[in-house]
Amino acid sequence: MSQLKNFFDANSVAIIGASNTPGKIGYAILRNMLDCGYPGRIYPINPKDKEILGLAAYPSLAALPEKVDLAVISVPARLVLPVARECGEHGVKHLVTITAGFKELGKEGLEAEKELINICRQYGMRNLGPNCAGMMDTHVPINTSFAKGFPLKGDIAFYSQSGAMMIAILDWSRSIGLGFSKVVSLGNKADLSEIDFIEEAADDPYTRVILCYIEDVMDGARFLEVVGKATRKKPVIILKSGTSQAGALAASSHTGALAGSDLAYDTAFKQCGVIRARSMTELFDLAIAFSKCPVPRGDKVAIVTNSGGPGIITTDNVELKGLQMSRFTKETLDELRAGLPPEAGIYNPVDVLGDAKTDRYRFALEKVCADPNTDSVILLMCPTAVTEPVETSRVFIEMRDRYPEKPFFAAYMGGGSLQEGADMLAQAGIPCFTFPEPGINAIKELVNYGKFKNTPLAGDELVFPDVDKRAVKAIFYDVVKDNRLVLLGSEAYDVARAYGIPAAPIVLATSPDEAVEEAEKMGYPVVMKVASPKILHKTDVGGVKVGLKNAAEVRNAFVEIMENVTRLMPQAVVYGIEVQKMMPKGNELIIGMTRDVQFGPMIGCGLGGIYVNLLKDVSFRLARGLTRKEIEAMLAETKAYTLLRGYRGEQPSDIPALVEAIARVARLVLDFPEITEMDINPVFTYPNGLSALDVKITISLS
Ligand code: COA
Repeated sequence: MSQLKNFFDANSVAIIGASNTPGKIGYAILRNMLDCGYPGRIYPINPKDKEILGLAAYPSLAALPEKVDLAVISVPARLVLPVARECGEHGVKHLVTITAGFKELGKEGLEAEKELINICRQYGMRNLGPNCAGMMDTHVPINTSFAKGFPLKGDIAFYSQSGAMMIAILDWSRSIGLGFSKVVSLGNKADLSEIDFIEEAADDPYTRVILCYIEDVMDGARFLEVVGKATRKKPVIILKSGTSQAGALAASSHTGALAGSDLAYDTAFKQCGVIRARSMTELFDLAIAFSKCPVPRGDKVAIVTNSGGPGIITTDNVELKGLQMSRFTKETLDELRAGLPPEAGIYNPVDVLGDAKTDRYRFALEKVCADPNTDSVILLMCPTAVTEPVETSRVFIEMRDRYPEKPFFAAYMGGGSLQEGADMLAQAGIPCFTFPEPGINAIKELVNYGKFKNTPLAGDELVFPDVDKRAVKAIFYDVVKDNRLVLLGSEAYDVARAYGIPAAPIVLATSPDEAVEEAEKMGYPVVMKVASPKILHKTDVGGVKVGLKNAAEVRNAFVEIMENVTRLMPQAVVYGIEVQKMMPKGNELIIGMTRDVQFGPMIGCGLGGIYVNLLKDVSFRLARGLTRKEIEAMLAETKAYTLLRGYRGEQPSDIPALVEAIARVARLVLDFPEITEMDINPVFTYPNGLSALDVKITISLS
């Protein structure tokens, strides 16, 4: 439930730092409040002036005739804290802090920002900013910003972490007739962030599409919870900047290196149904599409064109985006054949030819739009000497009105000669681009969003009554006591078993006799590996022996490994030799985990073995909120999935067992935040069950 009551719909607003001096921000804000037609009461606060822009001004909040819902703060940074405290004391519910000079300046600014939020918490106020350009709502209307002008009324809510970008977009939007319900500059997000605004907009009757430009998410868990619910109600489209690979370089595990810093955002967005835009152009193309078009029933696209080349290019793009070309019914084809010139293309794309005037476009569009296999329509036009852009646009609008359940897009491939027709479409709410690709991309996103909304929420949380948390805690305790953060193979095996992850038995032996005893217990053949936290690449120092079939071989291997290691790495502390049951070969997979600062553990699974980094066939999901259904979807994204299902006559692997093992790894890393990285590579999958062969776990001290 949103806590933003009386934020946008404030009954009264105090502007602290309102000024009579044109060019000052305090002047611009008051001017904007007056110009937008704000219906509530406005109180300029200024210690010197009695009247500002025709309104009575007050020296302080104490002098006001009532408690105000909202205060806009536009005084220098050194005055912000006392002013905020004064707001709290006078019952102000919300602040919009325009003033810059906080966190963005470094340590001192950060301290001041923290203090600002402490004051807000103390008085139960919510704060937008600091360092923001303000907010607007076209339906209230209210404009607490110092932007030039006011947006047109519309149904897009836009939240921007860059004030400059917000102001620029406003100016541009008016020029193309695009309207907004709300526009908010998020500033430093010290308190209110995109999460709060998305929560509010999800239930706002005037908002149809939620749009964000952000540079980071500051509370990953809350983002997933709140935004995951909002996307079920309306589309949330986000452009997130800062997609560097620094995180990937810093990671030491396979899974961490494969993931990279941006992947957590990608995965989080995917998992909670956010549509991710990759550029400013795409952000607004999608905003227009989602605001103007319905979500289509299916993924079949019909193209009507007056030129062959663009028709083919668009067809290619339809396939590239994973959409289908409509296959018209026999009746439609017969009618098109009978009504169009013999040279015309009647199969999709329908090519009405370069000499087509409006009547021919109309004929083709009527048949194509009516066809039950058409879910979306894209109209292509090249300006030949006989093309009638305005008249044809009129027909296209008529078709859209006749089939409101289908999205209509246009690409008018030309310049000035098509402009009037293109403007006509835009005004009527049909997205019209210069080239077809953005339209097809928008159809793809509309189709995907429809699929997402139609997928029921999978409520199966990963609950395992049989896991032994205490055993894992005890192992970690011992490891830390031993001044280590990396678990030995045998310790990692014990952790895996405590969580029901089927790992191949592995036991630490400190003498040849003990090694033989353990090998006899688990049964031959066995593998033996040196156990030393300092030796990462065991094979390189002669620290691994495989296929040992009897007691004599085990005894020899023990001695040989010890000799090799002493010779090649004399300084390494050796805990003993691990004896592991040699498992039959299966499909080699990797299951891993890397931890993202914001979104927590990310689970990866895909093709394992020694080529894991080369093949990069690993798919990821966040452990938080993960379901078995999502795990299956993650597996299905990998090439390894083909192997798992039985490639070229091979027996299929036990996929349910793999899903179960991944679910248990997710439970483990959620239960133990001290696990910083985890790799199981390889995991052998069999027709019946699976076996985790090499479990690597790194923990932190906390
Ligand atoms: N209560 C109310 N008004 C007060 C006050 C108080 N306690 N103390 C001072 N004022 C008045 C001043 O007298 C002045 O009014 P005047 O023009 O009539 O003299 C007004 O508040 C503003 O103070 P001033 O010292 O002139 O500051 P300023 O207008 O030059 O700068 C900010 C104030 C907030 C605009 C500036 O500090 C700032 O942060 N600018 C950057 C904003 C920004 O970029 N935000 C991020 C956008 S993305």
